[in-house]
Amino acid sequence: MSSGASVNPEGGSAQHAGDTGLRRCRENDTGGSARHAGDTCPEWTASARDHPGFSGRDDSGPRLRIVVGVTGGIAAYKAVFLVRGFVLDGHDVHVVPTAAALRFVGLPTWEAISRNPVNTDPFDDVAEVRHVALGQSADLIVIAPATANSLAKLATGLADDLLGTTVLASEAPLVIAPAMHREMWENAATQANIATLRARGHTVVGPGDGQLTGDDRGVGRMSEPTEIAAAALAVVVASTGRRTRSADLAGARTRSADLVGQRILITAGGTREPLDPVRFFGNRSSGRQGVALAEAAIERGGEVVFIAANLEVPEPGGCDIHRVSTAAELREATLAAAGTARIVIMAAAVADYRPVTVSETKIKKQGDASLTLTFVANPDILAELGHSSHPGTVLVGFAAETEPEDAQLLRVARAKQEAKGADILVVNRVGWDTGFGDADNEVVVLGAAGRVLTSTNGSKMSVAHAILDAVLAHDTPT
Ligand code: C5P
Repeated sequence: MSSGASVNPEGGSAQHAGDTGLRRCRENDTGGSARHAGDTCPEWTASARDHPGFSGRDDSGPRLRIVVGVTGGIAAYKAVFLVRGFVLDGHDVHVVPTAAALRFVGLPTWEAISRNPVNTDPFDDVAEVRHVALGQSADLIVIAPATANSLAKLATGLADDLLGTTVLASEAPLVIAPAMHREMWENAATQANIATLRARGHTVVGPGDGQLTGDDRGVGRMSEPTEIAAAALAVVVASTGRRTRSADLAGARTRSADLVGQRILITAGGTREPLDPVRFFGNRSSGRQGVALAEAAIERGGEVVFIAANLEVPEPGGCDIHRVSTAAELREATLAAAGTARIVIMAAAVADYRPVTVSETKIKKQGDASLTLTFVANPDILAELGHSSHPGTVLVGFAAETEPEDAQLLRVARAKQEAKGADILVVNRVGWDTGFGDADNEVVVLGAAGRVLTSTNGSKMSVAHAILDAVLAHDTPT
């Protein structure tokens, strides 16, 4: 699918990381044949194997025939890692680049990395009816990056190149990872095309928010290859019931696609309530658990809307991100998105109070006299949602409490759950040295009437999956 001459945005840290990997690979490369063998770049191999989207295992398991369509954007270089990861996972990968894609990454690279011949012309191998054969035999088609032009072609069903005919001739799940400048992504035409593709049941991964190719920032970055792979394999599991090698991974946990087609709203971080232009009242929430929840939900195929309040950790990729600072801003963003969400997870630590007045100028020291500040209560967003009718939406609150005794901790948490009308409450203990900012967490998850659904500890990612398991178990009528 020819995508015109638009150069798509990628850049910042991810681009530099990718550049470094490729450069090191060339430095380590002793010659053409070694490069074709594909195992001379340990950094590259590690980058695919170390991420949860790929397993890197060579043991038995269903081998998928995956078509990776690459259209003409700078993010094509990141698709090399996607192809590499699928190949290391043991899948049979066929790359279909458009003519414009080949201006970014050349045909020898795709052939070497995929370990399969690469065709670009529907008139190649006519005797094998190649223009439809690839699509008919595919288990999965992933288009990454998908430019604005290719989205338009997919939405209208154009088949004027090999990728177009392959897609139209296929009944395999189609996963699309858009990448373009923010303005192009936000353009009504692109949004209409995306809506059409989603309505047809195709899966759209990303784009993420961040540094674009130039100085600009915003939504448009292609999701990371590991996220695309995880979402794509999750879609295959959901659509065929077949477990792939990668979908069986991630330690003891079995990744599944139980959130495909579901919108999940997650708040994370800690609000800041300004006092004057240089000071605020805040809390020690890092946002780690909320980010882990978003990443876990994305891995399971969910469509995540993420509301970030002053995170200390990198934002999750592959979701719709809204940045806020105060409780009032968080409330506005949450209420705007909650109506369409199947699950709302309020992981953010929201300030219960804010200063009554915000000084326009820096408050000066008053000699040795004490300073008295007056606070006013912030609206309780969780309670507002919990006490309004929310059919079809599971409302999950968090309670970070300092009670040292378990029984007392649970009593406080149950009272809070009832007061707020949360369907599920995740309780964790915090203190001077525990909770906020830690890599690990320990939680108890309460369901209807304060019943303990599960209690778990471990990395915030494993806790995130346990919370999602509990939410889905609660959500599913028995
Ligand atoms: O009352 P507390 O702050 O402990 O409640 C924690 C839960 O309530 C969290 O889920 C938090 O996101 C939510 N909350 C809220 N609005 C507030 C305060 C807390 O939604 N003003």
